[in-house]
Amino acid sequence: MAFWNRRRSIDAMLAPHDGPALKKTLSWPHLMALGVGAIVGTGILTLIGVGAGLAGPAVMISFGLAGLVCACAALAYAELSTMMPAAGSAYTYSYAVLGELIAWIVGWSLILEYSLVVSAVAVGWSGYAVGFLNGIEIGGISLALPEALTVGPHVAGGIVNLPAVFIIAVVTGLLLLGTRESATINAVLVVIKIAALIGFVVIALPAFDAANFSPFMPNGFGSPSLPFMEQITGQPVVQTGVMAAAAIIFFAFYGFDAISTAAEETKRPERDLAIGIVGSMVVCTALYLIVAAAAIGARPVASFAESPEPLALILRELGQGTAAQWMAAAAVIALPTVLLAFLFGQSRIFLGMARDGLLPRRLARVSVRGVPAVVTVFTAIVVAILAGVMRLDELASLANAGTLAAFGAVGVSLIVLRLRDPNRPRVFKAPLWWLVGGITVIGCVVFFFSLKGSTQLYFLLWNAVGLVIYFAWSSRNSRLAKGEEVQG
Ligand code: ALA
Repeated sequence: MAFWNRRRSIDAMLAPHDGPALKKTLSWPHLMALGVGAIVGTGILTLIGVGAGLAGPAVMISFGLAGLVCACAALAYAELSTMMPAAGSAYTYSYAVLGELIAWIVGWSLILEYSLVVSAVAVGWSGYAVGFLNGIEIGGISLALPEALTVGPHVAGGIVNLPAVFIIAVVTGLLLLGTRESATINAVLVVIKIAALIGFVVIALPAFDAANFSPFMPNGFGSPSLPFMEQITGQPVVQTGVMAAAAIIFFAFYGFDAISTAAEETKRPERDLAIGIVGSMVVCTALYLIVAAAAIGARPVASFAESPEPLALILRELGQGTAAQWMAAAAVIALPTVLLAFLFGQSRIFLGMARDGLLPRRLARVSVRGVPAVVTVFTAIVVAILAGVMRLDELASLANAGTLAAFGAVGVSLIVLRLRDPNRPRVFKAPLWWLVGGITVIGCVVFFFSLKGSTQLYFLLWNAVGLVIYFAWSSRNSRLAKGEEVQG
């Protein structure tokens, strides 16, 4: 079968398989906890500074826009994941709806996303861990690390971000031991994260000064740009403003696919998924807006925009050193689960692609503990090196590019399947599907072109390499190419 005709059959995916059925134990509060647990991380704790640097106080609008696009993408995810519950990712939905080539591009982009989220969150973790250690003295001896070992070479005097490398090594070790996210630990960490953010708001709000909100939009709204614009026009292209900040703040909102992958275990998916997804988006957007308002109101944007630990820095500048230590401790304890979720997710995408014959099955072999050890260790080494030497905003932007490609494909899949197969039973139906799908697709395209030109270029290069691999190897080894149907 020619590659442009290859689509996985949804009916074959839904065919009963031998595996045990999962127990239906979850309801919407569990789903919301799952969502908030996977979503709240480096985005709000650290990238809030980067976003505020790009947009000024108008970063509040950026949070609203990114939340809207993500809420729509999440609804599209919910509809598709409940139609193809055995699978569980943008890669599989694209394979069934848009065909093998698009599925390959989505899967390849997801590998980029999941890997770089791990690097970015590790750098975010490092910012708070370093601040935390700086504040501790035992018997007169400070635990502060030498600065050269806490930042990459992009900062004068920096060599390597050792704490970021360290936390990736720890999380990889846990994963190799067969550790999965546990609902109980997740619930505890959600409480810690929310308590830390609420604590921040309670302390920062009394210092609120409305003067810090002016000028509100110093860099304007911003406009999308294409790669190579600089070379074409000869003018430097600097992406700033509300849209550029939204494109990076977008990082703070994803991770909710965790909710849709729990569809099979949900008691009343048609109700619980909608409440869980929209609810966790509303909770996160509201929380983020309040945190952003409190941060900007407490201190001028310029004072924390460049900080590796902006929220702790603001508390310290308000004379609340102890609260800053608690904030840092909460980040140090809670962020590793985001790492665990994404490193695990990366291997799951890889396994899915290998199962379909698009990547070598040898690489995806699972160890006795049920972990694809080779791919996990290989990914960990690459992401640890990137985390050791790259800037957080660059890592997060590139991760966002991959995510935007995947979310865009999910939006298109929602629309195409509604038009192509309107009568197929849908356990959960996205409300106003044309609007939800439309906002997802348009939002992803606009955000993508609001990223820095260099990020767009790296993303295109990554996919160019991917396409070479696809045409040289994967398209011939694909199970569909060989006429085999793939289940599950
Ligand atoms: N949304 C996750 C975070 O902000 C990736 O860390």
